[in-house]
Amino acid sequence: MAPSVPLTGRVTLVGAGPGAPDLLTIRAVRALAVADVVVHDGLIDPAVLDFAPGARRVDVSKRRARHTLPQDEIGALLVAEARAGYNVVRLKGGDPFVFGRGGEEVEALLAAGVAVSVVPGVSAALGAAAGALIPLTHRDHASSVSFVAGTCQNLAEQDWAGLAGKGRTLVVYMGVTNSTGIADKLMADGLAPETPCAILERGTLPGARALRTLLADLGRAVEDNAVVSPALLVIGDVARLGTAVDVLAAFQEFA
Ligand SMILES: C[S@@+](CC[C@H](N)C(=O)[O-])C[C@H]1O[C@@H](n2cnc3c(N)ncnc32)[C@H](O)[C@@H]1O
Repeated sequence: MAPSVPLTGRVTLVGAGPGAPDLLTIRAVRALAVADVVVHDGLIDPAVLDFAPGARRVDVSKRRARHTLPQDEIGALLVAEARAGYNVVRLKGGDPFVFGRGGEEVEALLAAGVAVSVVPGVSAALGAAAGALIPLTHRDHASSVSFVAGTCQNLAEQDWAGLAGKGRTLVVYMGVTNSTGIADKLMADGLAPETPCAILERGTLPGARALRTLLADLGRAVEDNAVVSPALLVIGDVARLGTAVDVLAAFQEFA
């Protein structure tokens, strides 16, 4: 009798980019094409999933009465699928290692002895800023850029001192619902109320908006314009650059 050969599955964390399917990398498309299983989040465009026509799809955002599967269960699922011998693609919005919890998934896979690799993706800040023609750094306006998470729970514990202000760009992910609190925090830390801000909603997606305002008016601008997730805040002088919303919409017709 032939010795039993262990099945050798593997997991590839793939960045799906900020939304537009044509922002996938060639490596991402190749990984999807050979996947047996695609484990994906909710915001993934169906056109992206079409690059994996033969794969079984597992939407981890729709488990348990539409609540996202807890992170440790996602890790366990990836390990189980790989151990069953499948070539698994874990598809994540933007880049897996930018506020994507890719680090925890890699740790779970390495701990279980499962082969894992990562395909980077276009992070939302890069895609949305490009769409709004906002250079996140600029020789004349900003020589550094920082990405922070603006989630409400731990805002008070965040230490953003030195990340925003003259010559610096601050990009806040997951910050629109708490934009007033974020603006107050930055002003309390000494940032000028007239610091330029841009709100980039649905970057690279149909209906994308790029709204310009000042730090003191940020919360009101989000509210008055009924901004919804996914959206980013860009805070700093570069937010003044680029195009007005109506001009942007006109450009996008030719994109
Ligand atoms: C959990 S984070 C995931 C970030 C992702 N890993 C990345 O690299 O872009 C989700 C946040 O990314 C931002 N985001 C994602 N897609 C976006 C888009 N198309 N336009 C603007 N912001 C976006 C929003 O702030 C959203 O709340």
